[in-house]
Order: sequence, then C-alpha cells, then structure tokens
Amino acid sequence: MHVDWLMILLRVIHVLTGILWVGAAVFVARFLVPAVRGAGPAAGPVMQQLIQRGLPAYMPTLAIFTVLSGFGLYWRDSGGFRLHEWLGSGTGRTFGLGGIIGLGVLIYGAVIVSPAAKRMGALGARMREAGGAPAPELAAEMQRTQAQLGRGSAIAASLLVIAALCMAVARYV
Ligand code: HEM
Repeated sequence: MHVDWLMILLRVIHVLTGILWVGAAVFVARFLVPAVRGAGPAAGPVMQQLIQRGLPAYMPTLAIFTVLSGFGLYWRDSGGFRLHEWLGSGTGRTFGLGGIIGLGVLIYGAVIVSPAAKRMGALGARMREAGGAPAPELAAEMQRTQAQLGRGSAIAASLLVIAALCMAVARYV
C-alpha cells in the first residue's frame, strides 16, 4: 500500500496546531481575560509571567502553522485548485469556509487582538514602575484596553469554534 507521508505530516501538523490554537483561544477568552479583569492590579505579576513564558508568540505561531498546513491540505485535496468537482462539493466548500474563517481570525488576531494584549502589558509595566495607586488616566486606558481585548478575544474564539465545526463535519456534507 502506498503511504502518502506528506499528507500524513500535513495532517499531523494541522490537527495538532489547530486544536491547540482553538483550545488556547477559548481558554484566553472564557477564563484568562475575565480573570485578569476581575483581579485588577493583582493580576499584573501573572500577566508579566505569561508574557515572559511566551504566550504572545505561542498563539500566532499555532495560527500560522494551522493556516499554512490547512492551505497545503486544501491544495492537495483540490488538485491545486483544479478539481472543480471537489471544490464545488459540500466537502470542498465546507473545508474552504472553515479555512477562510481561520485565515480571517489569523489576520484579526494580528491586527486587533495582539496589539491590544501588547498595549495591556506595556500599561501594566508603566503602572508597576510608577508604584502606588495608578494615575486615573492610566487606569482608564487600562480599562479601555482590557475591554477591547475581552471583545477581540471573544470574537476570535467564537469564530475559531465555527471553523473547527466546519472541519469536523466537512467530510459528511
Ligand atoms: C481554525 C482552526 C482549524 C482547526 C481546529 C482545524 C481542524 C481540522 C481537523 C480536525 C481536520 C480533520 C478533519 C477530517 O479529516 O475529517 C481538518 C482537516 C482539514 N483542514 Fe482544518 N482546521 C482548522 C483550520 C483550517 C484552515 C485555515 C484550513 C485552510 C484551508 C483548513 C483546511 C483543512 C483541509 C483541506 C482539511 C482536510 C485534510 C484531508 O483531506 O485529510 N483547516 N482540519
């Protein structure tokens, strides 16, 4: 029997990075951001540790590997975008829809979510340096940034769950 090692490699990379990406996004949106907002300044050291341990690079890395391997799989399944029968089938369209949503979240994360998370880290560092109670305008900016991050991460996580659902059912539609 012929073993398609490239397909196996792409699938291993894709499924592993995909589930880790969606899982991390849901954890961040559902638990981490609300917990950080609830704890207020007490969350500062934990945020600092998460940044030092590479959380800001972890999610984009997973996103890039998922999307690249996904497009590699799509390319192979569709015969380099030439198999019109597959492209127009329920399966091809559903993998394509999930793929577009995944790519959209990758871009949305890079443009909206990551910058908000970086701003929050920088504001936290400024507050720690200043010591004592934070200046009102700094505290207000932190609240705004946290609200933005809360919204952004919730949108990204919801879309990723939809993309994962597309992947789950695509073969059977
Ligand atoms: C967003 C997060 C994603 C998750 C969690 C995810 C997950 C999965 C899973 C579990 C499978 C296996 C399904 C099966 O064999 O029936 C799969 C297959 C596939 N995914 Fe994704 N995926 C994601 C994003 C993407 C993206 C961005 C693309 C780009 C087009 C893509 C394209 C594909 C294709 C073409 C297959 C079929 C591979 C094959 O023929 O074996 N996926 N995905």
